[in-house]
Amino acid sequence: MIHQWQLSRCFNIDDLRKLAKKRLPASLFGYIDGGSDDEYTLRANTSAFDRYSLMQKALVDVSEIDLSTTVLGKKIDWPVLCAPTGMSRMFHHEGERAVAREAAKSGTFYSLSTLSTTSIEDVGRETDGPKMFQVYVHKDRELSREFVQRAKSSGFDALCLTVDLPAHGNRERDLRTGMTLPPKLTAKSVLDVLLHPAWVYHYLTTDAIELANVAHKIREGSGEVSNLLQYVSKQFDPTVCWEDAEWMKSLWDGPFVVKGIMSVEDARRAVDIGASAIVISNHGGRQLDSSPATIEMLPKIADAVGGQIELILDSGIRRGTHVLKALALGADACMIGRSYLYGLAAGGQPGVARAIQLLRTEIELDMKLMGCRQLSDVTADCLYFRDQ
Ligand code: FNR
Repeated sequence: MIHQWQLSRCFNIDDLRKLAKKRLPASLFGYIDGGSDDEYTLRANTSAFDRYSLMQKALVDVSEIDLSTTVLGKKIDWPVLCAPTGMSRMFHHEGERAVAREAAKSGTFYSLSTLSTTSIEDVGRETDGPKMFQVYVHKDRELSREFVQRAKSSGFDALCLTVDLPAHGNRERDLRTGMTLPPKLTAKSVLDVLLHPAWVYHYLTTDAIELANVAHKIREGSGEVSNLLQYVSKQFDPTVCWEDAEWMKSLWDGPFVVKGIMSVEDARRAVDIGASAIVISNHGGRQLDSSPATIEMLPKIADAVGGQIELILDSGIRRGTHVLKALALGADACMIGRSYLYGLAAGGQPGVARAIQLLRTEIELDMKLMGCRQLSDVTADCLYFRDQ
């Protein structure tokens, strides 16, 4: 009950972020919230939206607003997808299930990470909504093949290959807080946890948190790998190249998405291998720091490949206006990561619902104020570019 009251006092994504910060141990909040190195890209992702203003058209009948669109062959009710994020049950015991259910209720895609704490099969059973499974090309190619097969059998509609993780970014907040996944009990982490009774309750009432899709592989490796970072450095293959992306695509019959594209050249390569969509993404500022904000790269990429491949933009979206600016610059849809994770950490499934409701209501209201009735009305004419 207190949850609901606190959630109803969150009026935007930043309010949910503040509530998540109160509820989570510092190490876990830092894991969600943080970026790499100096966090330049993390900040730029959101602040770069301020370089664009939105124009308003007067005297348009905006009594009915239609937010629906078609992405990856599925009609969705609003132009925002839920991005893949690992280890969601660390933040709330309902984890991936809660997000998948709310994504389906709102009529959009849920993307399940390979590094999830709920299995492909469990998420497959959880919802009939549109679903995408996110993979990496592992050193053990059979493991990647097995994931694709499991996603097919579990009814996933699309496959998403993440290509911006040839190595794990330098996340200094995690180093400072001693963050490990799954968590290890040390004097510091116990103190951190005890200061957050809401999370202690969650932790005590949940079963063991593990990397649900790869745990058996970790065990097969006879204990050689005991946490996420070790797993990433052991299984992630720095030799992966476009031929491997093509190979991954050949394993999948449906829509294929390449996530982590930041240049025109790479966008063209994705078109060449026959991908259905790219996600213009810098992993939410968690990988290469000093990478440009995604919204800065969108116009160039849209000019070069718009119409040949679907363009989904993520990283830094916290407001409805951010989504509308991306659409006006040529994106077909956007994706959110932290926005729903703050909601999940703040209040489980109702928290995710609140995050989705806030963003969706903002988009609808902003479209009314702009004089746009449907997403196809949101074009470059709606933008005013401020050069500073
Ligand atoms: C991520 N992201 C991510 N991406 C991916 O392809 N596989 C993954 O397992 C994860 N895990 C993950 C965990 C956490 C805690 C975060 C915050 C992000 C990146 C994610 O899909 C997306 O690109 C970013 O979250 C987008 O930026 P915003 O919306 O968080 O600013």
